Amino acid sequence: MTIFDSRPKRSPEELRSWRWFGRDELRSFGHRSRAKQAGLDREDWEGKPVIGILNSWSDLNSCHMHFKVLAEQIKRGVLQAGGLPMEVPVMSVGESYTKPTSMLYRNFLAMETEEMLRSNPLDAAVLMGGCDKTTPALLMGALSMDIPVIYVPAGPMLRGNWRGETLGSGSDAWKYWDEKRAGKLSEEAWCEIEDGIARSPGHCMTMGTASTMTAIAETLGFSLPGASSIPASDSNHMRMATQSGRLIVENAWRDWKPSDFITADSFDNAIAVDMAIGGSTNAIVHLIAMAGRAGVALPLEKFDEISRRVPLMADMRPAGKFLMEDFYFAGGLPALLNAMGEHLQRDCLTVNGRSLGENIEGAEIYNEKVIRKVADSGGTTVLRGNLCPDGAVIKHSAADPKLLKHTGPALVFEDYADLKARLDDPDLDATPDSVLVLKNAGPQGAPGMPEWGMLPLPKKLLEQGVRDMVRISDARMSGTSYGTCVLHVAPESAVGGPLALVQTGDLIELDVAARTLALKVSDEELAERRKAWSPPAPHYARGYGKLYLDHVTQANEGCDFDFLHHGPDTPEPAIY
Ligand code: FES
Repeated sequence: MTIFDSRPKRSPEELRSWRWFGRDELRSFGHRSRAKQAGLDREDWEGKPVIGILNSWSDLNSCHMHFKVLAEQIKRGVLQAGGLPMEVPVMSVGESYTKPTSMLYRNFLAMETEEMLRSNPLDAAVLMGGCDKTTPALLMGALSMDIPVIYVPAGPMLRGNWRGETLGSGSDAWKYWDEKRAGKLSEEAWCEIEDGIARSPGHCMTMGTASTMTAIAETLGFSLPGASSIPASDSNHMRMATQSGRLIVENAWRDWKPSDFITADSFDNAIAVDMAIGGSTNAIVHLIAMAGRAGVALPLEKFDEISRRVPLMADMRPAGKFLMEDFYFAGGLPALLNAMGEHLQRDCLTVNGRSLGENIEGAEIYNEKVIRKVADSGGTTVLRGNLCPDGAVIKHSAADPKLLKHTGPALVFEDYADLKARLDDPDLDATPDSVLVLKNAGPQGAPGMPEWGMLPLPKKLLEQGVRDMVRISDARMSGTSYGTCVLHVAPESAVGGPLALVQTGDLIELDVAARTLALKVSDEELAERRKAWSPPAPHYARGYGKLYLDHVTQANEGCDFDFLHHGPDTPEPAIY
């Protein structure tokens, strides 16, 4: 018994696609004749929902290299259930190659998703994503368009391996790069790590941004139960894709769309899960943006409040030990959700018409080394203070506990080029107590708020054995990164946030327990510095970059475009 039992099916004439194919009009003749050009016959579409399969495959995105095959599995399910699958390529936004940062293009893919769904004869859609930005982008577009959708996550890749050591995406690259810079790793070993760290299809297999966002998509109710934990190479993953294809046809008939099951409570659940899995700080920006599309306000304090009460329930890298393959075999996300008890609102509905509670009922933990109570509270803290009036975040679970209360002199880099030029200078005035500050790394300043927030450490300190320092920026940090990194400082320096006024030698006080970040400079002195400050020249004068700079919001607002927030409905396109 699901909610579908009380929800009547639409007639074929009530489907969106009927407006394109069903009418006795010249324009419909054109649509039908072009469908026939593609080899389809009337039997292929008459009386059937048309299901878009938005495929973010690209040779430029190795995390999605299996999507050509996966799309065929989804089509099989759609055909079995009596729908017509239509595969639609969308921008891939691969994390590895896209410069200056994939984040610049998250909103581009979100807009493409919304407009592809709106402008075409689609009754429902399967969204294929997984590499970091693709999940929030596809879901942001789907929330704005609001037709039935189901999310098929790419699945994590298998564990990496080097000389018997398990390697985790990103995390072990940073770790061994520091060892190499400190002169403790040979060139030969470094090349072997390159061979072994990414050895199968799928997204990064640490609890980085990709794993965090696909877990969040599942928690929100966009994916089948357990879908996000299945490794991409596991045959269960293909079966999940086919099941998703079958379900979306039913959802098309029932018009079961995001606004029917996504609520403010769904987003509270998503934040709670982000904290319980020790998820990526990037999820904060993405969740605010996604919620904004649904008309749900998520102030940063909401993350802090939930972080304080929800325990960390998974021992996953980069904060812990294990990888996604271990998480899957330990019971995966359903087991963790079931173990969250009162911290989850179980009556939230999901894409299969059942509640979250029904979906996870009886889900067991099979390995308590992986899924267990690791800490009493979540992994992320929201900071306030005169250095970040609109907030900043720190993933304290991935930081050196000794640095969580720290006062030290700022060592300021004006931008990333300045950091690259000076960081390894033997004469750099840096000590283990220094607080590394990077400016101009936010949404406007970088541009695109790249993952520069885990600033590399000065070489001379690495050689002394230093492996963590307090670092502060208006950038984000990869979900696979770690260290005492204060991120998302808002307002950013490029728009005149207080970060812009920091000078080398200023004392900065970080107190994670008190949730404060303070620049120990008088208000009078800061006012003087502000008079002398002028904004940097904008990065773009034309094109998409100009659109981005003109409309992107700050980190605490989700970095969505201001004109894409929830608002009056956009009408269906006229067909003449
Ligand atoms: Fe695609 Fe990490 S590079 S998820």
